[in-house]
Amino acid sequence: MTGLVAPAEAESAADGTATDPRGCPVSARAAAFDPFGDAYQQDPPEAVRWSRQEEPVFYSPALGYWVVTRYDDVKAVFRDNVLFSPSIALEKITPVSDEATATLARYGYAMRRTLVNEDEPEHMPRRRLLMDPFTPAELAHHEPMVRRLAREYVDRVVDSGKADLVEEMLWEVPLTVALHFLGVPEEDMATLREYSIAHTVNTWGRPSPEEQVAVAESVGRFWQFAGTVLEKLRENPDGPGWMPYSIRAQREQPEVITDSYLHSIMMAGIVAAHETTANAAANAVKLLLENRSVWEEICADPSLIPNAVEECLRHSGSVAAWRRLVTADATIGGMAVPAGAKLLIVNSSANRDDRHFEDADAFDIRRENAGDHLTFGYGSHQCMGKNLARMELQVFLEELTTRLPHMELVPEQRFTYVPNTSFRGPEHLWVRWDPAANPERSDPSVLDRHRPVRIGEPAARRITRTVTVEAIERETADVVVVTLADGAGKPLPSWTPGAHVDLDLGGLSRQYSLCGDPEDRQRYRIAVLREPEGRGGSRHVHERLAPGDTLTLRGPRNHFRLDPTARRHVLVAGGIGITPVIAMADRLRATGADYRLHYCGRSPEAMPLLERARRDHGARLSVHCGSDGTRLDVPALLAEPEDGVQIYACGPRQLLDALAEHTAHWPEDTLHVEHFTAEHRSLDPEREHAFDVELADSGLTVRVAPDRTVLAALRAAGVDVQSDCEEGLCGSCEVPVLDGAVDHRDSVLTKAERAACDRMMTCCSRAAGDRLRLAL
Ligand code: FES
Repeated sequence: MTGLVAPAEAESAADGTATDPRGCPVSARAAAFDPFGDAYQQDPPEAVRWSRQEEPVFYSPALGYWVVTRYDDVKAVFRDNVLFSPSIALEKITPVSDEATATLARYGYAMRRTLVNEDEPEHMPRRRLLMDPFTPAELAHHEPMVRRLAREYVDRVVDSGKADLVEEMLWEVPLTVALHFLGVPEEDMATLREYSIAHTVNTWGRPSPEEQVAVAESVGRFWQFAGTVLEKLRENPDGPGWMPYSIRAQREQPEVITDSYLHSIMMAGIVAAHETTANAAANAVKLLLENRSVWEEICADPSLIPNAVEECLRHSGSVAAWRRLVTADATIGGMAVPAGAKLLIVNSSANRDDRHFEDADAFDIRRENAGDHLTFGYGSHQCMGKNLARMELQVFLEELTTRLPHMELVPEQRFTYVPNTSFRGPEHLWVRWDPAANPERSDPSVLDRHRPVRIGEPAARRITRTVTVEAIERETADVVVVTLADGAGKPLPSWTPGAHVDLDLGGLSRQYSLCGDPEDRQRYRIAVLREPEGRGGSRHVHERLAPGDTLTLRGPRNHFRLDPTARRHVLVAGGIGITPVIAMADRLRATGADYRLHYCGRSPEAMPLLERARRDHGARLSVHCGSDGTRLDVPALLAEPEDGVQIYACGPRQLLDALAEHTAHWPEDTLHVEHFTAEHRSLDPEREHAFDVELADSGLTVRVAPDRTVLAALRAAGVDVQSDCEEGLCGSCEVPVLDGAVDHRDSVLTKAERAACDRMMTCCSRAAGDRLRLAL
């Protein structure tokens, strides 16, 4: 391992205050920051909350590092691996004693660069060469093995009533999975465990001089063990696993993958694949059991597990902080940081940044952007094993919630952590339960229930909440208004006018605009038109739904937003299309904006929410009824184009088409319409062409075949992109475009946004040419 961290580089000013390497005084809080103190060890994001709020980049004299704590800054550092070199990621954070150095030398310890800490131009060619076994398609082969191991380890304790889950499952299973994944023999597990802990303390911890020698002994033996296993594998390099794959890759490109590189990644791979996952699993189970109602929710509805995993990784991930070296004078979060500065980038703090995550301290397994967490890093050095870890966590939680839903934390246990800056997880996790109440004793079939694991970040469409039907009120002969409240009585997510939710109704997913009061966080209101020719969702509501029923809901989402800068708003609703429009009208009235509401229908009796519209928007409302000859004259309404006017419309297709036709001579993007069905053509491989997508942040190039969407190709390459509708309707799969012409096929972007060509919806839009460059 190269280079030692110098003790505090800070100097003391004449008055005794500490200064940073530029000679500027550091604040009292920065001076007091101690990453090995109890506060940081117990709760890193809490310990630097003051920094997120007041001083997002500060110099720590105790550590000799600059500390970065806000989401945008941490992500920016991860993104630029040239200005912020990863070369110090594995450097020992505490200077090593001469004796420990001599001990390591005795074992021939020569850990060099690995995928984690190497610079360009070496890194990306190696990463590309070695990443195939990490693609979702390859990882899927490991799922049965992970399930088998999780089952076996729970079998061992299920009848005991009490267990230290770390000791008896969560440490050893990821270790065994790691060994399988790497392709190394399943042996010497106890020794490996000892080695693994020693490696963490050696690199990220602060051992005393005496401890350093003992740690160095273990690390030296670990190094030699890794070498022995590597030699064994070289004798039979055709076997399964990442190490045999790497040995074969070395044969093809020995100049890219050297002998010492293989030895280094062998040792680092065991730690990386095992320890972070073991810690993440222990953190997740602890967090879920501490939030009992959430644990009970995932026991009752295992479809929540993928997003619960993501939220656990965000809220209490196993990687608290990472390190980078500044290679040229830089500015981070407005702070000038000199070349040569060392950075502690606290990704666990970034994950609790309210600027990026709404109510960031809350543990919310339905948080839609939980997957934005930086626990796996970001960019070209993002953790390659992230999807293996996600798979393991999902399987562990499924097994534990199925077999031990009644398990609870043993009260008053004190959680301890291996002291270090970066990896984090409790050393012990005691749980207890009543074996007589084990579900499998009364119903052995629970053991056969499996949900397919989702490899990769959960899609937004899986992020659901349970709501209860509070009331169903008849509005017209064909329309009912349904009031929904959170199943557990908690506040519902806030929403803005134009938002919709997705409801699962009798096996169908249907979208409904919200038409209640956005200030009321206790309930949502939707209006549902009976559609005899529809797919059956509305029939379900009208014929079967009753107060007290529970439903699964997704969202809210909004891709029909009011433009607050418009000089005047024209709102046009047809029939049931009044639902998003009336919420917009309410907002415009409340803010004193200039607006006009045109409401069209067959007859007053058939127009839902008409009384409310009359009551609340009387003078600004025009009612147009076929029955009394006051039909909306669209050509007349739109005859004279006006600058600064925005038109929002929702209603039958004919109405929307007429509005589109008669706004053709208006300024671009005047008309906004709400779509509930996709217009884009489905993918016809005969008519599509293949193209390349170059990913600027991760350094990858992904080929998009004619029969694949960009979204699918990115996911197959292990790149996380959110999605929801996957029909070009919701905007959740949007990614920034840096270069290349886009063939836009979504219903989200306006004409001007399309023309700017700086973003695209990856679920449906494609490259117009043969290449796109994305900021991913
Ligand atoms: Fe909804 Fe792509 S996932 S627009």
